[in-house]
Amino acid sequence: MAAIVEVLSSVDLLIQRATALVIEQLKAAIADRGMATLALSGGSTPKPLYAALAQASLPWEKIHFFWGDERYVPVDHPDSNQGMTRQVLLNQIPIPSENIHAMPTGSGDPAKDAADHEAHVRSFFQTSSAIPSFDLILLGLGDDGHTASLFPHTDALDVNDRLVTVGNKDGQPRLTFTIPLINQARSILFLVAGANKQTALKAIFQDGDTELDRQYPARFVRPQGECRWLLDATAGQAI
Ligand code: 6PG
Repeated sequence: MAAIVEVLSSVDLLIQRATALVIEQLKAAIADRGMATLALSGGSTPKPLYAALAQASLPWEKIHFFWGDERYVPVDHPDSNQGMTRQVLLNQIPIPSENIHAMPTGSGDPAKDAADHEAHVRSFFQTSSAIPSFDLILLGLGDDGHTASLFPHTDALDVNDRLVTVGNKDGQPRLTFTIPLINQARSILFLVAGANKQTALKAIFQDGDTELDRQYPARFVRPQGECRWLLDATAGQAI
């Protein structure tokens, strides 16, 4: 399915649009299947979206939160994606603790934690072999073209037989969904803002040239479902 690209004239309007889209997709999933599975991205761009979702009136007990990637730090570390999301969203809403599926980062062995989280995801979706489909996976874009914690020219880009693996940012371990798991999603929503993302966006939306895929890993994201990009006006100048 071809990517859908929306350019919003400001970051505020991008966040408003993202909030409406996320709410719409959560409600549709609940209507169709009785629950919704959402994987969140980290970084700074989605933080106001999470704060806006905290004001929404949703059946939180039917919504399950995962993360597409996590820094290998404790939840109370300032870099923790889980910690940020709990602060601005999860601590503000009546959501059962069993609906929060954090990536473990405490064993000291990232590969073990990645395998444990994969087992948890498989158990949740009750599948031992098939690749499960999240209703919605939110993704950001690094200025180097990474998404989740799939960084350029790293081993994680070659992991096609797992759901969760260890990413590597400048030698620092991270846990990340793999490309196959991301691409199995019913819907992907990228949120990208800022001039520093223009170079990566130009490369990502360039046709052909598979050599670019490993340099700009977000190019690997071609879900079987919908792939929508929300860009602010500055980032959108790139395409
Ligand atoms: C993370 C994210 C990462 C992020 C990009 C963009 O854990 O940092 O998952 O992939 O989305 O680095 O980050 P910004 O939104 O802060 O630019």
